[in-house]
Amino acid sequence: MPPAIRRAILPVGGLGTRFLPATKAMPKEMLPVVDKPLIQYAVEEARAAGIEQIVFVTGRGKTAIEDHFDDSFELRETLRSRGKAAELEAMTEMVGRPGEIAYVRQQEPLGLGHAVWCARHLAGDEPVAILLADDLVLADTPCLKQMMEAYQETGGNLVAVTDVPREQTGRYGILDIGKDDGRLVSVNGLVEKPSPDKAPSTLSIIGRYILQPEIFGHLDMKERGAGGEIQLTDAMARMIGSMPFHGLRFEGQRFDCGDKVGFIEASIAFALARDDLGPDVRERLRSYMA
Ligand code: G1P
Repeated sequence: MPPAIRRAILPVGGLGTRFLPATKAMPKEMLPVVDKPLIQYAVEEARAAGIEQIVFVTGRGKTAIEDHFDDSFELRETLRSRGKAAELEAMTEMVGRPGEIAYVRQQEPLGLGHAVWCARHLAGDEPVAILLADDLVLADTPCLKQMMEAYQETGGNLVAVTDVPREQTGRYGILDIGKDDGRLVSVNGLVEKPSPDKAPSTLSIIGRYILQPEIFGHLDMKERGAGGEIQLTDAMARMIGSMPFHGLRFEGQRFDCGDKVGFIEASIAFALARDDLGPDVRERLRSYMA
C-alpha cells in the first residue's frame, strides 16, 4: 500500500485580476459560490478525503482567508444568544482543530510551481495533495477522495483530468496519453498551456494533484516555463519514468471558477443541486429562458 497522504497544500497567492474590481480588496478565493467562499469548498474537500494538515500559500492582501478559518468570538456568542444552533455548529466545524492549518507566504508571484515550493518545509518528506480553489467539482464523492481511492491502486503521482474543447488547451496543463482504460490513463508527457495545434491531447489537468515529495527537488531548480513562470506541470513532467504517473478521469463536473463564465455556471449548478434553493432557482431560470 502506498504511504497515506496527510497533508494538503492550497496555493492562494494569486492576484485574481480577472475578477477586478471584486478582488481589489478581497482575495479571489473568498468569492462565494452560493453562500460559501471558493476556498471553503477546497478545505471541505481536503478534510473529506482524510487530510489532517493544510498549508495555505498566501500573499499580501489575503488575511481574510486566515480570518475566515479562525474562531470569531463575537459571532459565536451572538449566534448562541439568539439560539441559532445550526449556524453555530456550522461555524464551529469550519474553524477546525488547533494547528490544522498553517500559512506560508509567497513573496513574489513567480508561478504555481514556486507557490508549491514555498510550502516544502511544511510538507516534509511525505506525498502531498494539492488543491487549487479555482477548480470546483460537483460530485457525489468529492474529487480528492476519488483520487485517494485510485491512489491505492496506482501509487506514485496522480492528477485529476477532464477533456476540454481543443480550442481551450492553452488554458491548462495537457497530458500526452499512454495506456488508457477509460478511467485511469498513464501519463507519457505533460505540456503546460499548449496551443490547440501543439496539444498532444485534449485531456487537461484540473487543480487536484497527489504528488510524491521528490517534486520539491525538481521545483528547486526553479526553471521558468510557459509565461515565464515556474510551472508545477514542468516539474511534474520531470518525474515521468522514475515512478508511476497517472491521470484519473474523476466522476463529477468541474467548473473553472478562474473564468467568469465558469464561475457563473458553478453558481447556477451548485444552487440547483441544493435542496433548499434548487426548486426556486430552477423556476427563476425558466422565466429568464422563456
Ligand atoms: C494551473 C496549472 C495547469 C492546470 C490548471 C487547472 O493553471 O498550471 O496545469 O491545468 O491550473 O486549473 P492556472 O489556472 O494557474 O493558470
